Amino acid sequence: MKKNEIAIIENCIENKNEKLDVKEEPYEKLMFFYRTALKELEVQMNIIKDEFKIMYNYDLIDHINSRIKEPKSIIKKMEKKGYEKTYLNLIEKINDIAGIRIVCNLKDDIFFIRDLIKNISDIRILKEKDYVTTPKESGYSSYHMIVEVPVRLTQNTIYVKCEIQIRTLAMDFWANFEHKVKYKSDQDISKKASKELVSYAKIINKFDNKMMGLKNT
Ligand code: GTP
Ligand code: MG
Repeated sequence: MKKNEIAIIENCIENKNEKLDVKEEPYEKLMFFYRTALKELEVQMNIIKDEFKIMYNYDLIDHINSRIKEPKSIIKKMEKKGYEKTYLNLIEKINDIAGIRIVCNLKDDIFFIRDLIKNISDIRILKEKDYVTTPKESGYSSYHMIVEVPVRLTQNTIYVKCEIQIRTLAMDFWANFEHKVKYKSDQDISKKASKELVSYAKIINKFDNKMMGLKNT
């Protein structure tokens, strides 16, 4: 386990192998860390949004959404992945307890925003997944980063994991629609419907490429 993960544990839980209980105090304490990290990240991302709007008259970021994963979604995910439900596993293995989504206009902007995030000195990048260059089999397209954000307490600073998703408005439209009909649903949708969704994703991708072309003329 990494040093900062140990620090989170030490601040919230007496016995590190304690079973996860979303109704107990350790869970509340833990969520304070994720909420605070997410707030910090939101501030940083809104600075980028406003800077580009005000200083350069460019709508780099259309909007930003963020959420803390619901307790029932956390439990469901741990069960699905076969993790024993302990605080330790929650901290170590679930990367998207705090999540932020940055939605922009153009495909190029995704990589530009990614580079700006990489240049923020106190955000540590742990993992990146480029589903923009290579979409998932489902058709899903977005740029994912798992980062660590500093939470500055009075006594010390603790780094907390957050998931960042960067996508265009068109990708966002597709993902929200697909999420409703497929990704989270418990029933399997038909092969035909899945194929259709992939074909819509391809149309969206073509659209995003054309929009980029328009900007460059
Ligand atoms: P999860 O365990 O589902 O979080 O996936 P992962 O750990 O393999 O990470 P990945 O980066 O692939 O996916 C993280 C998040 O991206 C998910 O929680 C979803 O919000 C989103 N996502 C991934 N694949 C799809 C997809 O096919 N459709 C939609 N709508 N969203 C997706
Ligand atoms: Mg997720």
